[in-house]
Amino acid sequence: MYRRFVVVVAPLVMLSAVYACTRMGAAGVSQDGTVRSQGNSAGEIARAGTVDEGKAIFRDDTFGDEYFWSDTLELHRAIAGDKHGGVGPGLTPRQALAAGLKVDMERLDRATIEAIRGGKANLDDPATTLALLKAGAVVGVKGFYNGAGMDPTRVGITCAICHSTVNDGLTKGIGSRLDGWPNRDLNIGAVIAMAPKLTPYETALQLDAEAIRKVLKSWGPGRYDAEVNNDGKAFRPDGKTGATLLPAAFGLAGINLHTYTGWGSVPHWNAYVAVTQMHGKGTFFDPRMNNPAKYPAAQRTHSYDVRNSPDMVTPKLASLQQYQLSIVAPTPPSNSYDHAAASRGKTVFESQAKCARCHVPPLFTEPGYPMHTAEEIGIDDFQAKRSPDERYRTTPLKGLFVRMKGGFYHDGRFATLEDVVAHYDAHFKLGLTPAQKHDLVEYLKSL
Ligand code: HEC
Ligand code: HEC
Repeated sequence: MYRRFVVVVAPLVMLSAVYACTRMGAAGVSQDGTVRSQGNSAGEIARAGTVDEGKAIFRDDTFGDEYFWSDTLELHRAIAGDKHGGVGPGLTPRQALAAGLKVDMERLDRATIEAIRGGKANLDDPATTLALLKAGAVVGVKGFYNGAGMDPTRVGITCAICHSTVNDGLTKGIGSRLDGWPNRDLNIGAVIAMAPKLTPYETALQLDAEAIRKVLKSWGPGRYDAEVNNDGKAFRPDGKTGATLLPAAFGLAGINLHTYTGWGSVPHWNAYVAVTQMHGKGTFFDPRMNNPAKYPAAQRTHSYDVRNSPDMVTPKLASLQQYQLSIVAPTPPSNSYDHAAASRGKTVFESQAKCARCHVPPLFTEPGYPMHTAEEIGIDDFQAKRSPDERYRTTPLKGLFVRMKGGFYHDGRFATLEDVVAHYDAHFKLGLTPAQKHDLVEYLKSL
């Protein structure tokens, strides 16, 4: 119901808001240029994209991508298994949880919650997965149905599959949603590799299905490669995967450029992902990618200029942006770091270690153009070179404590914060004492 409302009504709402703004321009501003009254304009502007609408889109909107995941890849058939009109053994809840998929307990009825709590839910039967899917409880995976049956005719994915997790309130992997927290347990490559067909990847990368599965399985938990189907660079020169860690999608307000390599604004990247990665039906235009040497795969798929009618992405970008900007970074539990050391570490961060030169509080990235060459920060340029500006963006540091799993920097190359600090100490020749390094780490844990 909700989605239909958004798809059909949102463009109308946006038009009326634009009209209202134009009107306000005439009536709301007096001759000398001062604003007389905001009148209804604030309400009208908010209606163009509300946080609540954005939340619903972030959690449950597939942008029509089921045409890709099901009609083309047939992923729903692998999930259902041959007993439910699909292929193979099907995906049991135990396997789904092991792959890092999460279950939103707030979408489960009391009986199901009690069954799980009492150990009575059959977590080894794909039918249970289908029931969770039908309840809309598998975070970021949405089933589509013909009538009342349990077997999905299609599945699609939403932003939440990668960018939300749960608090494990009921049991590991099942709890209340935490939007914006990267799901560092999710092995999205393994999930995609389950699909019976991988033809679009074969076309983009000019590899056979077996080679594509090898690429997908090389990603590992908490990682996804958001560029490989455009540049074809599945592996780094050292043979490791080209996938990056899933980043935080909280604490983004005030930050100019997004992604590890600063591809663009939140709406730029949302359109990029919804259209070129999730394969939703929308519009995406970025002529920087119309570069055969750098993005050869994009030439094959024309992903730098995608047009779909109807456009199921563009009308949602405003709300989606507002929702993301509204998600504040979580605060670390008070007992998770040493307060006295953290307070000394703040001084080190801002003075001797010169971290605040780039990680400017309270954004912890630069206001302006927060981009640096690989050389400046003392690492290789493989990932930087895959982006239009060929630089790394200063990562905002708030809420670091929820992304301890998988390591730090875009590819997790530093396993611990101690390793990060040791890197900077050596690269910038900071000459920090062991005590200063310790305090700096405690400060980072407190952000
Ligand atoms: C399959 C996993 C996946 C899905 C689905 C996904 N993302 Fe992402 N997202 C990523 C990865 C990986 C990156 C980092 C990409 C990079 O830096 O190259 C990222 C980056 C981002 C960023 C940048 C955060 C920052 O550091 O500034 C935002 C914002 C974002 N995604 C929002 C979304 C939204 C909104 C959707 C749904 C339209 C979405 N993502 C769907 C994996 C995903
Ligand atoms: C010249 C600018 C610059 C300076 C100075 C700098 N950083 Fe960074 N920082 C970056 C960039 C750029 C990245 C992203 C690197 C990547 O993802 O590969 C980053 C990443 C990080 C990360 C990893 C965040 C994550 O989620 O992966 C941490 C932690 C960090 N910096 C802490 C510090 C500390 C502590 C200092 C001071 C000792 C410091 N930085 C000094 C630019 C800087």
